[in-house]
Amino acid sequence: MIICHCNHITDHEIREIAKQLAEENPGQPLRSNQIYRGRGCKAKCGCCRPMIEALLLDCGYDVSVAQKEDLDRLRQRRFTGATNDCPGFS
Ligand code: FES
Repeated sequence: MIICHCNHITDHEIREIAKQLAEENPGQPLRSNQIYRGRGCKAKCGCCRPMIEALLLDCGYDVSVAQKEDLDRLRQRRFTGATNDCPGFS
């Protein structure tokens, strides 16, 4: 499933990049920006960022976010594969 429509990044790619990052940096929390970089791109609209972070949390990774409130919100949210509110997300 495509998670980032701006960069055409799938959930499978996110899992693969996260696995590689975790192996390269054991014990370090992951950031969504690392996922974009791992794919050779940058966030554009940023709408997918919460879905990427929710997916990483669901995969059992520690995730670093800018605001503690964001992390609390993400911990309450499970990645369900549901669509997000991004205008480019169809
Ligand atoms: S940057 Fe990912 S949907 Fe726009």
